[in-house]
Amino acid sequence: MSDKKHALQKESKSFMERYAHYLPDTIYYKDWKNVVVEPNFITISAIESLFGNADKESIRIAEIGIGMAATTLHIAKFLDNKGELHIFDFNESVIPIKKMLNEECFSNIYIHGSSYKKMDSYNWNLLFLLKNAKHPFFDYVFLDGAHSFPVDGLAFFLIDMLLKKGGYIDFDDYHWTHAGHIIGSVEKYADEQQTEDAGSFMQRTLESFTPPQLKMKQVALIIDIIVAKTGRYKEIVPEKIYQKIA
Ligand SMILES: C[S@@+](CC[C@H](N)C(=O)[O-])C[C@H]1O[C@@H](n2cnc3c(N)ncnc32)[C@H](O)[C@@H]1O
Repeated sequence: MSDKKHALQKESKSFMERYAHYLPDTIYYKDWKNVVVEPNFITISAIESLFGNADKESIRIAEIGIGMAATTLHIAKFLDNKGELHIFDFNESVIPIKKMLNEECFSNIYIHGSSYKKMDSYNWNLLFLLKNAKHPFFDYVFLDGAHSFPVDGLAFFLIDMLLKKGGYIDFDDYHWTHAGHIIGSVEKYADEQQTEDAGSFMQRTLESFTPPQLKMKQVALIIDIIVAKTGRYKEIVPEKIYQKIA
């Protein structure tokens, strides 16, 4: 691991440890806090290089799906209290994580929370941002939430409408599948106590797809079919970061 990567990871871990008491123990499974600690190095480096020379006061970045804020912390540090950082996730995460970032003296954090209801997701928050937006809104959107076609297919269209021309959408986890990730976690942590809402959310997600769909790379389908067919996006980082060119 490079020195920079190691340093970012160390900072994220120490941030989580300082504020671990703010977060419920069992959003996903016991000890989850020690698992979701890896900041996304490619995303952080891309933001630094794309906006390093820009006027940060005018930059709006969104992270959709923040986990333990391992990456959020570094985006906030990059913005340095200039511009806006919008974070989307379940209320159970965004509320305490905003508090944690405020305690680190970051005051430009805007939260967009969801419930665990079956038809709820960050798409509702995006819709109402769009309703109130007077002009294209975001410069960079890091989409790292549900990783499913029904949620993120719609999210892509909403983000597209909210993204400035020349702005970027960053999709995490091109190769992610429900079979490879959620099933493993549910089985591995079956005996661990989960919050009732989070536990049933994971179970329900698995029950909502056919067996072939559980094995499909749904983020890849969105990128390869929908983003490609718009003809309006240029690949910046293969299978991950796309610039809206028209
Ligand atoms: C892989 S984690 C995000 C990791 C984070 N971006 C990072 O770099 O550390 C995915 C996040 O998406 C959130 N998420 C998944 N489905 C969601 C939904 N339907 N509505 C809101 N948040 C959701 C989860 O709660 C989780 O925090």
